[in-house]
Amino acid sequence: MAQQEYIRVPKGLKNVIVDQTRLSGVDPTGQHTIYRGYTIDDIGANASFYEAAHLFLYGHLPCEDELKEIKKKIDYERGNIPEKLFDALKLAPVTHPMYYGSYGVLLLGQYLAPEWDFSDETLYDHALKLIAKLPVIFAAGWHLAHTGTLIRPDPSLDHATDVLRMIIGRMPSKVEARAFESSLVLYMDHGFNASTFTVRVVASTLSDMYSAIAAGIGALKGPLHGGANEKAMVMLLEAKKQAEEKGVPLEEYIVDYIKAKLAKKEKIMGFGHRIYKLHDPRTDVAAKYIKQLKDGEWWLKVLKKAEEVMWQEKKLPANIDFYTAVLYYQLGIPIPMYTPIFAMGRIVGWVSHYIEQVKDNKIIRPTEEYVGPTGLKYKPMHERCKQ
Ligand code: ACO
Repeated sequence: MAQQEYIRVPKGLKNVIVDQTRLSGVDPTGQHTIYRGYTIDDIGANASFYEAAHLFLYGHLPCEDELKEIKKKIDYERGNIPEKLFDALKLAPVTHPMYYGSYGVLLLGQYLAPEWDFSDETLYDHALKLIAKLPVIFAAGWHLAHTGTLIRPDPSLDHATDVLRMIIGRMPSKVEARAFESSLVLYMDHGFNASTFTVRVVASTLSDMYSAIAAGIGALKGPLHGGANEKAMVMLLEAKKQAEEKGVPLEEYIVDYIKAKLAKKEKIMGFGHRIYKLHDPRTDVAAKYIKQLKDGEWWLKVLKKAEEVMWQEKKLPANIDFYTAVLYYQLGIPIPMYTPIFAMGRIVGWVSHYIEQVKDNKIIRPTEEYVGPTGLKYKPMHERCKQ
């Protein structure tokens, strides 16, 4: 039998290209996030949620009739949640809301697609269903757990406005809704990040889209990935409290605070990135919206100072999570909902990657190097644990 040839890759698949994608990535200079040919600065600042979702799913920005169609479908699907799903969420324990997303999506799959097929009709229909319904699952789960009330979607509102309304329990202003919408667009996709890769692995086994998305939500939950935006805000608020106690402005105190953490070998959440080693361009777009919201100028001073000291000490740039953390705080969003919001944007990328994977599929199954013992023999209990 011919000997198999193996390729050894670095731990964490660092710098390993595993496949091609036409969806998103970083340009050859390593400076720009590209969404299907457009830079993130352009799409993040100009595109609506519907336009960006259309771009990812169908490969181009929508014409007027296409925009009307995708808006109609997303708004309809958002307003059309199986009542039994809300009933199930009423029984859920009070936990981190990312759990509501994982099992809510699986329940949704059981109700809406108990049998799965790979026709275009099924793929695009369920992609849009998931994009529209995931935010409702998170928002409903959160409010039911914390206030016992169910805030229902309003399909007459535009997607981002309605989703933000469901999260904060009040009608947002136009400026707030646009800032929130842009953050969803900024989070929509980012090459083969950990959660997207997870989705593609599950897709490659030809499992259904709902199972793949539930797995992606699990991967996003971790603090080294999407969970970082929550941890970053907790850290900023701790620094703010300490600064107030000491009577020092936060924009000055943040320097000592970060240096003290680094001296204890602690990670500063919201800094560092596997791909961006100099600058995360998504932060520039987020900064524009932070500026327009409550205490915006002041928060930007704090963020810039933190970036300065992190660059000086560690040569690490801030990532998008450091900026969205502040933006969501300005919008009055409860901190545990920050990572679910990341998922509400990233769902667009996940379903697009699912489709791309199954349309040109090869099961993703790497090989391990077994380094444990060999040659052991089964022994009956009376011989096994003799002193
Ligand atoms: N604070 C302090 N030190 C850091 C940080 C940080 N945030 N990030 C990386 N480092 C250090 C590492 O400890 C390592 O130091 P060493 O060489 O002395 O061991 C060095 O910088 C290089 O970093 P790596 O860990 O090799 O970078 P990697 O690409 O493996 O990890 C990651 C990237 C996971 C994002 C990392 O930077 C990190 O943990 N950051 C904090 C969590 C975070 O913000 N995650 C969000 C990622 S972006 C997103 O999901 C949208």
